[in-house]
Formats: sequence, structure tokens, C-alpha cells
Amino acid sequence: MGSVSLKIGDGTARFRRATICTSAVNGLMLFSVLTTNLFALYAFTYSPSRNSSNNLQYPLHQAHKNMSLISEQVSLIMKEIETSQKKLAQMEKELLGYETIDVSRPNTANELKKFLQRHSLPLGKDSKTGITEMVASVGHSCSKSMEMLSQYMNYKVNGQCPDDLSVAQKLISKGCEPLPRRRCFAKTISKVGNLYPFPTSMWKTVSDKIVSWSGLACKNFTCLNAKKVGKDCGKCFDLVNGYENQRFVKGRGKNDFLIDDVLGMGGDGIRIGLDIAGGSGTFAARMAEKNVNVITQALNIEAPTNDFIAARGLFPLFMSLDHRFPFYDNVFDLVHAGSALDVGGKPEKLEFLMFDIDRVLKAGGLFWLDNFYCSTDEKKRDLTRVIEKFGYKKLKWVIGEKVGAGKSEVYLSAVLQKPVRT
Ligand SMILES: *[C@@H]1O[C@H](CO)[C@@H](O)[C@H](O)[C@H]1NC(C)=O
Ligand SMILES: *[C@@H]1O[C@H](CO)[C@@H](O)[C@H](O)[C@H]1NC(C)=O
Repeated sequence: MGSVSLKIGDGTARFRRATICTSAVNGLMLFSVLTTNLFALYAFTYSPSRNSSNNLQYPLHQAHKNMSLISEQVSLIMKEIETSQKKLAQMEKELLGYETIDVSRPNTANELKKFLQRHSLPLGKDSKTGITEMVASVGHSCSKSMEMLSQYMNYKVNGQCPDDLSVAQKLISKGCEPLPRRRCFAKTISKVGNLYPFPTSMWKTVSDKIVSWSGLACKNFTCLNAKKVGKDCGKCFDLVNGYENQRFVKGRGKNDFLIDDVLGMGGDGIRIGLDIAGGSGTFAARMAEKNVNVITQALNIEAPTNDFIAARGLFPLFMSLDHRFPFYDNVFDLVHAGSALDVGGKPEKLEFLMFDIDRVLKAGGLFWLDNFYCSTDEKKRDLTRVIEKFGYKKLKWVIGEKVGAGKSEVYLSAVLQKPVRT
């Protein structure tokens, strides 16, 4: 709330501004604390005219007494307001679960302090933006993983970064996103002689040697292909055997739509797209064959996903789904997503994601929901409700059952067209 982020040159600057809402709440709190205390003061100082004759005899003395009593009370009230405000702020913080990053803690990496240092603008306040200082951009949830963050920021400046891709990934999964920048050289992997020209690269087996296995249980693709990585990626790194090389061109059931059919629904307007949790990038590869440029969002969970997608000559986007998409409004012709939309938690969590998908999709663009696994009726209802709310045109809508793990599972596939809203 009240923090705006914008790019300046190659860095990110931020400024904070109390919103009208926060000041209004603060004002209201102050007012209520004041009135409560004034009532208390009144009740405290007011006494029925028991000794009124006595009081009349010593009016000056009484007035003095009254004044000192009042000033004593006022200072008490001020103290109470102060502690109430502090308590309120603390409660608010605890309620949200966010604390500000406290770099004064012992064992805080020096590099973290340096990175977070604020720098005043040399010419004072910028008249256009109102910014007064440059602030490094780092996820506020990083404060919840201070120890790990300090570990991440503990390295030799100008030297080689530690082999800690798994730490970075863990931090991101805990909401520490974006990560702070570092002043060390990331480990390089030689890809010389192991990459193919595009578009051949899209279907060539990727060598074990050109991806990083740091922090992963498997250390080669033989191991990886023997296990299921996530709901949407069953052996998805095996581009030769299995189903991966048939996905989107040959369906296994009525829930599997084919690329040509879906592209036909979008007319000629499909040129760029976003694939959410796109596994090994096969959707982007099939789309590239149709001259559609797709960017694949993926984390390296259990697999060297980003390296793999890049090796295929496709564009990987390393970020979690908790992060606002780093794209402008109304830019994509197509967004493709599957079971990754099941973000868990309260229905609002799904709404935040769906609204962001809606935001980056242009009017008339397609949202392809591909085999969303409805683990419960509630999941299906929540998702359907959000879709209904958006008023998308249902070009295709299929609810099918598949037998998985011995029991029947319900899947929802749909092609939806974003309406023009006025
Ligand atoms: C002092 O306070 C008493 C009530 O506690 C009131 O009756 C009295 O008039 C006050 N005296 C002056 C001079 O204000
Ligand atoms: C792949 O890794 C596994 C252990 O993860 C190992 O046992 C196996 O020998 C490796 N295979 C190849 C071909 O390197």
C-alpha cells in the first residue's frame, strides 16, 4: 500500500507515500483515543458539589490545583495515545505477517545492508514523480527469511557466487521476490558445441552437461525422466519417447485441445502468448512452429526447467505465481495455463492471479485453460465462479474424467475469449 515502484535507468527506485486510507484510519484512531481519554478525565476530575462552600473559600488555590491536575492528565493521555499507536502498528504488522527488514539484527550480511541502503537523489525531489530517494527493490516477505537471506547475501564481492541456486529458489518460494541483486559472478556453464540452431533446437535432446543440477535430487535427465515432476509434467523432459512430442498436436481425450483448433478460434490475432507453469516449454515450442512467440513462466522445482527451456531456444521466465506478472496491461493475445492455477489458500488467492492474467490479456485474446485438475468440487466451483465473473465468452468448455492413480479424476479444459469491457 502506498509504495510505487518504477524503473530509473537500470535500477529500480521506489518511493513511499501514506495513502489517504491510512491517514484516515490513523486520524480516526487518534480521535477515538482522544475522546475516550477526555471522558475519562472528565469523570476523574468531576466531583459532585460536596465541598462547594470550602472550594469557594480558596478559589485561587483550587484553580492551581485544578490546572496541575489537568496538565498531569494531559501528559498521561499523550503517553497513552503514544503506546496505543505503537500497539496498533504492531498489531497491524502481526496481522499481515510482515515486518520491515531489520538490518540491525546480528549476523546480517554486510552486502545486504549495502544493497538496501537508500540513496537521496542528487538534485533533491524529482518534480515529475515526487521521488526523493532511490530504494533497492526486494520482496517484503524476505524479512520472514532473514537468516536464509543473509546466507544468500554472504559472498565474496567480485568473486564467484556460491553454488546456491537452491537457496535462491527456496527464498522465492517463501515469497522473497524479487531477490536482492548480488555483486558476484554466477557460476557459468559452458554450452559450446551443445546447442543447436533454432528451430532444430526445440526437439533435440538436451545434454546433461549444459544445465545446472545444483540443489536438485537428480543429477541427469535419465534420473529425471524416470519420475513425475508436478501435475502438468509427466516425463515432460523426455522429448523422444513418451507423449511430450505429441502434446497439442495429438489429443489423448476430449480435454486435450489441439493447437490448430485453438488458433482457428483466435483468427489471425494470435502472435504472442504467455504459458503459465509451462513445464519443459513444449507449448511454446509447438506455438513457435505456428509463428507464435510464447514466453514460458517456470520455477526450477525438482528440475532444471529454465535451463532446459532456454536450451530449446525458447524464452523462460523465472518467477513464482505469487508475483505480479512483469508485463504491461493488454499485451498478450493468448494465455495458457493448467493445474498450476490451483494456488491453494482462500478463493481470493486465485482471484488475485486470475485478475492479473486478465490484465495482461488483450480484449478479444484467448485464455486456454488446459486440463485443470479439479481435486475437489469446491476447486471447480471457485474457478468457474471467477471465470463467470469475468464475462469471458466460452468458445470451448469441456469437463472430463480421467482415471489417475486408481480413481476417477475430474478435469476442466476451456478456451475463453476476453470481452471488451467499457
Ligand atoms: C476546580 O474543579 C472543581 C471540580 O473538581 C470545580 O468545582 C471548581 O469550580 C474548579 N475551580 C476553578 C477555579 O476552576
Ligand atoms: C544418473 O544419475 C543417477 C543418480 O542420480 C546415477 O545413478 C546414474 O548412474 C546416472 N546416469 C547417467 C547416465 O549418468
